[in-house]
Amino acid sequence: MVVISSFKSRAKQHPQRGTNMKNGISLVDPSDSLSAQVLSLACDMSRISKATSSSVSNQKRSKLIPEKREGQLLEQIDDEVLHVNVLRNNLKTQAAKAAETREPTGESVASLQQQLPQQQPTQSTITPTIEEEMSLQEKSEQLADENWHIATEYYKNIDTKAFRQYELACDRVKSFYEEQHAKQTVAYNIQARINFKTKTRDQKMTVWQALEKLNKLLDESDPDTELSQISHALQTAEAIRRDGRPRWFQLVGLIHDLGKLLYFYDSHGQWDVVGDTFPVGCKFSKRIIFPDSFKANPDFLNPLYNTKYGIYSKHCGLDKVMLSWGHDEYMFHIAKKYSKLPKEGLAMIRYHSFYPWHQEMAYTYLMNDHDKEMLKAVKAFNQYDLYSKIEQECDVDKLKPYYLDLIDEFFPDKVIDF
Ligand SMILES: [Fe+2]
Ligand SMILES: [Fe+2]
Repeated sequence: MVVISSFKSRAKQHPQRGTNMKNGISLVDPSDSLSAQVLSLACDMSRISKATSSSVSNQKRSKLIPEKREGQLLEQIDDEVLHVNVLRNNLKTQAAKAAETREPTGESVASLQQQLPQQQPTQSTITPTIEEEMSLQEKSEQLADENWHIATEYYKNIDTKAFRQYELACDRVKSFYEEQHAKQTVAYNIQARINFKTKTRDQKMTVWQALEKLNKLLDESDPDTELSQISHALQTAEAIRRDGRPRWFQLVGLIHDLGKLLYFYDSHGQWDVVGDTFPVGCKFSKRIIFPDSFKANPDFLNPLYNTKYGIYSKHCGLDKVMLSWGHDEYMFHIAKKYSKLPKEGLAMIRYHSFYPWHQEMAYTYLMNDHDKEMLKAVKAFNQYDLYSKIEQECDVDKLKPYYLDLIDEFFPDKVIDF
């Protein structure tokens, strides 16, 4: 069973955060109740800065908060979002295991879900029957859209308390998503892309320098911490390398979060840098985390954007779909322009935060055949992103020559314009 020990390891790695993390979700002992673990997560998260709320990011441009502090806030909310995704994956796995012992009960989403191949959260997960999964998901989509509680009741039957406390645990993340879901409109996303293509950022550097820049900005925010963005980048890459994956795959591990540099260039806060992503311009899926918060989005009631397909068409392909702007999209465009990464690698970067799709199988009706292949790649990558933090922290100096060589192999221009 894959376990969450990141809090424990992070407590060790973060002297300053040790008190916050030492009672956090530790190694998942199958004998422990899930609800207790989740409650523990809630306690940890409640101690984390209250400043991750929307008001803080609104003040970002007011210069009231020094840049170093901003970096810390970004790191915190991104960690929380990642932890929630780990938690979701584990809940899903446990629910699936429990469901294996239950009999189907007719035409319900529960029974449809029960027929899905169960994902095991291991590094080698590549679902061989995605077509079957998509087919079942298409059938359940209408039911799910009409009554999301059906799915919730399915989980409730397994462990009601776990889900109620999961909600409690997510207060900070919820605040973050309330702001993000209210502000990621079609208009904002078009403008963000115009800005990206037209504004001069004057940030020419190598990929490694970009990693160091991101690392420095975040590290300086918390002088006591040892774990940083470059650690996550290297841990992800090293886990991929350890498993003998191709060199391009390893490079994806290294650079997949590099787009967080966006936070220091042209973002409006945290909400347009980190967090799960989703399409804009069509109906927001109930499978997106905290779906009710989309009611505050101006597009929610716009008849152009609130139908199933919205501005898109059936199976148009995700490359035609505008995903909410953030570090995934930003880095995807950079990598597409400057790197020799294969399409699978670019997809891993672009979709790694698109949890509603690669974990919840939402928006399958927008996928084309190409996306089916990309989904396999993104799923393969996701396990490394989620779980590599449990491993030993890397020796940056020792690994640097290997990764400099790897970067040179796939970024022939060396100095690129971020
Ligand atoms: Fe990311
Ligand atoms: Fe990541």
